[in-house]
Amino acid sequence: MNRLRCDQTSAWPVLQAHYGVTGKNFDLRAAFAADPDRFSRFSQDAPHLFADLSKNLLDDATEKLLLDLARECGLEGHRDAMFSGELINSTEQRAVMHFLLRNPPAAQDGIAQAAIKNIANESTQVHATLDAMLAYAEQVRADAAITDIVNIGIGGSDLGPQMAVLALGEFAKTGKRVHFVSNVDGDELATVLKGLRPQSTLFLIASKTFTTTETMTNAHSARRWFEAQGGRDISRHFAALTTNVAAANEFGISTTFGFWDWVGGRYSLWSAIGLPVAIAIGAAGFRELLAGAHAMDEHFRTAPLERNLPVRLGLLDVWYRNFHGFTSRSIAPYSSALRRLPAYLQQLEMESNGKRVDADGKDLPFETSPVLWGEPGTNGQHAYFQMLHQGTSVVPVEFVAVKQAAHAPHDLPGHHPKLLANVLAQAQALMAGKQDVGGHKHFPGNRPSTFLLLERLTPASLGALIALQEHRVFVSGAIWGINSFDQWGVELGKVLAKDIEPRLKSGDVSGLDGSTAGLLRKIAG
Ligand code: F6P
Repeated sequence: MNRLRCDQTSAWPVLQAHYGVTGKNFDLRAAFAADPDRFSRFSQDAPHLFADLSKNLLDDATEKLLLDLARECGLEGHRDAMFSGELINSTEQRAVMHFLLRNPPAAQDGIAQAAIKNIANESTQVHATLDAMLAYAEQVRADAAITDIVNIGIGGSDLGPQMAVLALGEFAKTGKRVHFVSNVDGDELATVLKGLRPQSTLFLIASKTFTTTETMTNAHSARRWFEAQGGRDISRHFAALTTNVAAANEFGISTTFGFWDWVGGRYSLWSAIGLPVAIAIGAAGFRELLAGAHAMDEHFRTAPLERNLPVRLGLLDVWYRNFHGFTSRSIAPYSSALRRLPAYLQQLEMESNGKRVDADGKDLPFETSPVLWGEPGTNGQHAYFQMLHQGTSVVPVEFVAVKQAAHAPHDLPGHHPKLLANVLAQAQALMAGKQDVGGHKHFPGNRPSTFLLLERLTPASLGALIALQEHRVFVSGAIWGINSFDQWGVELGKVLAKDIEPRLKSGDVSGLDGSTAGLLRKIAG
């Protein structure tokens, strides 16, 4: 694998010079005035969605230099290494093959076949497990006695399935409620349990490792509640979604659906972790979700870099982070059903690319992951859009809009045109601004945004949207020369919490810093 870190390429100083001369003074209004074709040249179709990049601080010269950078960094080789099943998660010596979970069984794609050869055994298991998991989902759907499904999991074992179940509410079976419990704060589980009866509840214990404190604490409490309420038959009312089937068996769960260490937690929606989604939308719907993601995989794997949407978005992220110095990106889904998308993307991007060393462990002299944040529109407009329009920092916004309203759950006239008018208006206002001599009413404009448009929010378009995001994170991580697939940064806090927990009872503050000791005395006392 020939990877070159971005700052070690010859394209990097060229881009720096380009930024200093023209990039930093780029004006969107002037660019549209000078080029009537700007919209079509900086927008494109990709599987199941349309992307308008024209309101970004980009021109042909910038995109060309960014593509030069990508080629010199070895982006294509790194991408192909992932699709070939190489151990690109180098700190854990693991392959990264979530794409294999959505590869159709009969696919003859060259590179994916190479991956399949690398793990011939696993790829057979992928489809056997998927079939078993989907058959189980259908069984639960048909079981009228089960009315409530409680997914207990955190991070990737919560955010993806929760986001997708909400997003695909239109396609969900009625009569089944899907609850998500993630926080170790007992309030969350207790609130969900309050309305439930053991005989009509199915608990899904979702944990890649089956060791995560929050999930195991909630799982034990759920089982205690189940037994205390007279529940019997754990094998009917508990299922585990995990790579650690032995630990699930030890916990007492015999109904298990496995996956593999080459599926990162934040990339696991497509695996057994997707079971709550499959229960909600059915086996056929889940297969459509996988097919939509697969279409985006193929686009990423085969489209020329110039028209490769994950590549263009990932390079834009690098341009904004490392040259313009923008520190965050705001996600604005103009769809209430996509309300958990920002939270999902926070883990995807910030756990993947929030790194300060390269893949060889060397300190990076440049910035990596931006902060991702956001709320659904139009709500965000009445909260923080003031800052986006007139604050001192420029925050690129990523709008996600859906052309056709969901037929269900609402068919209320007049709402959807208002929603669409608002998303168009916000993107327009950010770019155009408004001259006003008075100061307070002046909008500087020239504030960049990307506009992703789905025809409809369906399992297939959601799958494509999520795979697009996965691959754009891959692209910026590849340019930065980091390992996007480990997450060592979450470990220290976990270890310290284990040390602190018994001190809350004993009051022992020995060896602690002054602040932690002082707080512990306040809490323990
Ligand atoms: O603590 C971070 C993390 O490891 C995430 O990467 C992961 O998605 C989450 O915890 C949950 O892990 P598990 O699925 O093993 O319970």
